[in-house]
Amino acid sequence: MLPGGENFECPQNKPILDAAHAADILISYSCRGGLCGSCKGRVIAGEIVYPNGVPAAISAAEVKQGQVLFCSAYATSDLTIEILKPVF
Ligand code: FES
Repeated sequence: MLPGGENFECPQNKPILDAAHAADILISYSCRGGLCGSCKGRVIAGEIVYPNGVPAAISAAEVKQGQVLFCSAYATSDLTIEILKPVF
């Protein structure tokens, strides 16, 4: 769910970025590999995991603040997210 109330299905075996795009909710991206930071957003509620470890483009301080790289993060619960750089 997004703060505006939009919902989309986010399977646990698919990165959040891909699930959002499949639902026509566009999030900025570039590398899709956790290197550029283009897809950075925020998890307001819920839990995510990085199966391959915390990516290079997000700092420990940003993780602590709830920021997330949607290209590399997978949902492990229902989420409420904030997209910081939507695609228009
Ligand atoms: S698209 Fe580059 S870090 Fe996510």
